[in-house]
Amino acid sequence: MVATLLHEIPLQGGDVTDGVVRVGDTVRRPASSSTPAVHALLRHLEAAGFAGAPRVVGMDGLGREILTYVPGSTGLRLESVSEEALAGLAVLVREYHDATAGFPLTLEGWEGGSNDDKSPEIIGHCDLTPENVVFREGQPVALIDFDLARPTTRLFDIVTTLRHWAPIADPVDRPPLLRNLDVGARLRLFCDAYGVHPRDRRRLLDLARTRFHRSYGAMRTRAATGGNWAKMWAGGAGQRIRRAAAWLDVHEDELYAHLV
Ligand SMILES: Nc1ncnc2c1ncn2[C@@H]1O[C@H](COP(=O)(O)OP(=O)(O)O)[C@@H](O)[C@H]1O
Ligand SMILES: [Mg+2]
Repeated sequence: MVATLLHEIPLQGGDVTDGVVRVGDTVRRPASSSTPAVHALLRHLEAAGFAGAPRVVGMDGLGREILTYVPGSTGLRLESVSEEALAGLAVLVREYHDATAGFPLTLEGWEGGSNDDKSPEIIGHCDLTPENVVFREGQPVALIDFDLARPTTRLFDIVTTLRHWAPIADPVDRPPLLRNLDVGARLRLFCDAYGVHPRDRRRLLDLARTRFHRSYGAMRTRAATGGNWAKMWAGGAGQRIRRAAAWLDVHEDELYAHLV
């Protein structure tokens, strides 16, 4: 008998979505209220010729979204914290932002509104953690998990990315691979590789502070809904944000000197 049933292989790495599985060359993920908007975005990226995101295949009989599986690895490794990798990530994020051009910046359909007070410029990914960037041979090649995507500013998405990758975090909360990095130099490197406007470089640390404040509130609200958010909150997510904000206050002048 020919085996026609494909195995479902659970994919780990994310904190949030239960039931993400690989089936052959595809990934199946539970759909959410933002799935139609995300699919429209992914199709737009495909039409724009942006290769660094999964393609939409459709929906399966269980109501799950079907995306293409992007070969490579996710999560922090020695090679993914190199300066070359960080510069590559900045270029990839820049290409992604540029590829969203022309996509409507209306707020309906997304998981939430823009987190920046300035008018939206692009559709931000808004969750570029190491688990949501696929690497091959030491270089980032794709962004995955667009569940938190929404219209926002370029700088907001950059700040979110740097929170994880510079990282803007208290050393006690950093993964060992990121503990002893020169954060100011990495902020500068990312901004140079992306081509961040001087006006935005001056605003970057202020926006990071605003973001900490808002994500603390947003996380606490989500935690009240239970599930994995509640687990993350119970695991100290709020305290990590508080410590990161305090670390930023202490190091702000030194970081600013690298940026401008
Ligand atoms: N399209 C994809 N291609 C390759 N790997 C994927 C893909 N989607 C998910 N994964 C893998 O599964 C993990 C969890 O999936 P993700 O979509 O990020 O869900 P979560 O919401 O739980 O973070 C990712 O960190 C990655 O390792
Ligand atoms: Mg994820």
